[in-house]
Amino acid sequence: MTQQVSNARNTDAQTHVANFDLKEEIRAYWSDRAERFDESASHHIEATYGVPEWHKMLRRAFGLAAHQDLQGASVLDIACGTGEVSRVLCDFGAAVTGLDFSDAMHAKSRAKLENQNWQALTCDAEHLVGVPDNSFDFAITRHLVWTLTDRNAAFSEWERVLKPGGKILIIDGNFSKNRGLVQRCKWWVASLLEDPEPRSPEEMHRHQHILSRLPFRDGLVSKNLTADLEKAGFIGCRNISVKGLYRAGMRGWPLPTRLRQTSANRFALIGNKQS
Ligand SMILES: C[S@@+](CC[C@H](N)C(=O)[O-])C[C@H]1O[C@@H](n2cnc3c(N)ncnc32)[C@H](O)[C@@H]1O
Repeated sequence: MTQQVSNARNTDAQTHVANFDLKEEIRAYWSDRAERFDESASHHIEATYGVPEWHKMLRRAFGLAAHQDLQGASVLDIACGTGEVSRVLCDFGAAVTGLDFSDAMHAKSRAKLENQNWQALTCDAEHLVGVPDNSFDFAITRHLVWTLTDRNAAFSEWERVLKPGGKILIIDGNFSKNRGLVQRCKWWVASLLEDPEPRSPEEMHRHQHILSRLPFRDGLVSKNLTADLEKAGFIGCRNISVKGLYRAGMRGWPLPTRLRQTSANRFALIGNKQS
């Protein structure tokens, strides 16, 4: 099931939304990366070790029993990109809506998921235009929060569209400043070795230029995010370990990639909408 639920792009209303120009730049940046995105070690979820680790983590996060899956549950994958996380969720029995504002990313996710219980939603993660209140049992977002221009707007919207008692799972990391000594050393050693996933200087420059104007330019710290989630109405926020995910995800990759990928403080944070 592949359906475009809403295309909130370039309407008059949308151009008046805060940070419109910066968001357009962010959208263009990700769209240009869509073609090769799945080649990146931190995005592709490998079948033999990666997918089972994801299923374990989802059980812990969503409080499922040992052999339970997400059969019958509706899940919103916020900023689904090429659909890697959506793929794992469908594989785990969920009915998934993959939200993203990049058409190029959605072209990739559609191609991957056309025969799955999945539908595309093209809209801004900070303004879920046309999505009714209390729509989803669970929401999940990987590697989006660091690039939000208005996290408070986003978190309120995510709380609004979850059903009472629903859960939000944020998987992200501190990829910029304020990393620990060990992480900084890993990054430094990785940068001395030959990088099998080089990004062009132009791409790095665009990335840095965008990052320098984002609220999380000094790093994304899970403790601070908890306070923001609580402000949006979430309760019972807690961290869960993602070590297994990244250990599994890094199998078979060359040393510089493993060092670089583990040089960020990665975390998963879960919050509940009040019942
Ligand atoms: C680093 S990628 C992560 C993709 C996917 N979640 C994954 O982990 O494989 C970031 C994604 O967020 C999307 N994105 C960034 N800001 C967004 C926004 N405000 N609304 C909707 N999508 C957004 C981009 O188009 C891109 O697909």
